[in-house]
Amino acid sequence: MENTILIEMQMEKQVVNTKSSPFGKTPTDHMFVAEYKDGAWENARIVPFQNLTLSPLSLCLHYGQTVFEGMKAFQNADGGINVFRMEKHHDRFNKSLHRMCMPAVPKSLFFEAVTQLIKLDADWMPEDAEGSLYIRPFMIATEERIGVKVSDEYLFLVVATPAYQYYSKPLNVKIETSYIRSADGGTGTAKCGGNYGGAFYPTQLAREEGFDQVLWTDSIHNEFIEESGTMNAMFYINDTLITPVLSGTILDGVTRDSLLAIARHNGIKVEERQISYNELIKAFEEGARVEAFGAGTAAVVAPIDTITIGHKAYKCNTEPDAIMFTLANALYDIRKGYAPDIFNWNTEI
Ligand SMILES: Cc1ncc(COP(=O)(O)O)c(C=O)c1O
Repeated sequence: MENTILIEMQMEKQVVNTKSSPFGKTPTDHMFVAEYKDGAWENARIVPFQNLTLSPLSLCLHYGQTVFEGMKAFQNADGGINVFRMEKHHDRFNKSLHRMCMPAVPKSLFFEAVTQLIKLDADWMPEDAEGSLYIRPFMIATEERIGVKVSDEYLFLVVATPAYQYYSKPLNVKIETSYIRSADGGTGTAKCGGNYGGAFYPTQLAREEGFDQVLWTDSIHNEFIEESGTMNAMFYINDTLITPVLSGTILDGVTRDSLLAIARHNGIKVEERQISYNELIKAFEEGARVEAFGAGTAAVVAPIDTITIGHKAYKCNTEPDAIMFTLANALYDIRKGYAPDIFNWNTEI
């Protein structure tokens, strides 16, 4: 299809300051919608943010064909707006859609939907240097039928919300060895709704024990670290940045990939490989300065303060000179246009 996007403007713009409200609660004025029918995308439009009308028979409400992305736009140093790594987010979106038997979204439609929406709602960009617009492209199966089947109809939507700091303090996490998030051959690498629904219960149990998050382990040995909540897990031990390899059970995180690129560019030794909690115990017991952090679009770099393994809590290094902060600052500078975009990650709109 030609990407003619019709725009129906909100009559009264309603920018509100959302700094004190929880993440993701306040949408901007508009949203993008396109429909998939008879094998083609049609009726692409930007409309005032509004509720959807769905039949109770809509397949997404029953069998979990839902896929989403999460990306950010930043006000850059010269007053324009950068969308960060749109190409990689689009690529991952289509990979997730493929795994869930859902139709791909052409790059031009994805890019236009995002850029036009963000241009229209640019007033919602937080003035804070730390603020950004969080962008949520997503797709749901809308065919009206209660039988278990792959849907023939879909809605592709994009909404946005102002975003500020995600976690206010370093995290207290536990190594999860009873429950798993994903297994070989499963959907762990897709950003589909079911992965998150299935992770809630163990995370809730961990919260009741006083932890902020769990660090998932592999499904076979319950020993090798996978990832955490909505973040990839990264460690800096004895001058090496270590992160679990993309084995097919974890998300191919854009922040993870970006931090690895920045680290390599700066001559930091990087290892993408399996890392077991026994290796962590050994490092802690040998007195190594272990940095541990989550990497994700929403939280960016979330320092981990303590990792509880079994009944023992191990303290990680969160001193201001930790490498994770150097990496986070370098990423921040590129996204904001304070440093040259040497990796070509920003799309200026
Ligand atoms: C399960 C999971 N892992 C990792 C990440 C980090 O990915 P990204 O850096 O692309 O946001 C996310 C967030 O998108 C996630 O939901």
